[in-house]
Amino acid sequence: MKNNFNFIAPVYDALAKLVFGNKLKRAQCHFLHLISQDSNVLILGGGTGWLLDEIFKTGFRGSVTYVEASTKMIKMTEKRLQPSWNVSLICGDEKAIPKEFYDVIITNFFLDVFSSDKLKDIMATLSDRLSHRGLWFCTDFRHTNRLKHKLIIWSMLQFFRLTTQLEAGQLLDFAFYFKALPLHCIEHSTFSNGLIFSSVYQKQPSEQEF
Ligand SMILES: C[S@@+](CC[C@H](N)C(=O)[O-])C[C@H]1O[C@@H](n2cnc3c(N)ncnc32)[C@H](O)[C@@H]1O
Repeated sequence: MKNNFNFIAPVYDALAKLVFGNKLKRAQCHFLHLISQDSNVLILGGGTGWLLDEIFKTGFRGSVTYVEASTKMIKMTEKRLQPSWNVSLICGDEKAIPKEFYDVIITNFFLDVFSSDKLKDIMATLSDRLSHRGLWFCTDFRHTNRLKHKLIIWSMLQFFRLTTQLEAGQLLDFAFYFKALPLHCIEHSTFSNGLIFSSVYQKQPSEQEF
């Protein structure tokens, strides 16, 4: 099975911290304050669920649908849940997303596991599920001209290919794929000398509104 994170789930967060310190977390939390407190949020491939703590810490009172393919990641997320949180955990892939519209979609270090064709399909599906003027938060790696970054990206691809049967053969340019969708980028920041980006896209208003 491709993109199977069960094997590395118990050590995923520790490994990420060992290699990147707090940079991955900092990038993922950078724009969380833009989530309105009552919104209906969809998280895809959220991993161990630590981001839920950060979202609810902002005073968020809305609902979260958390779709994650790894049974081990889901179990780890389940252990973090607080009684006051409105979170629905779904163990499955993008086909398991409940057919609703979401005010916010979060895909952090999720799009990078797919091949180009699959990525296009998944991004189109997610864009369809985003409500009018909804926000899509995406944090991930990006290419730079630095040799050090090329080595890091290459090593990560080799590592995840071995441990998760990663489907992606290369790191894709996600901004290019976002351009094909009815979204526009309203916030963008880079971290770690440009190796990591965090962007917020908004679903464009329909033409009648212009
Ligand atoms: C690279 S990890 C990122 C985890 C988390 N977002 C983070 O940054 O800590 C990718 C996650 O996506 C999940 N995943 C992979 N393919 C998926 C799919 N088709 N649907 C839902 N989750 C998926 C994996 O199980 C894994 O937890």
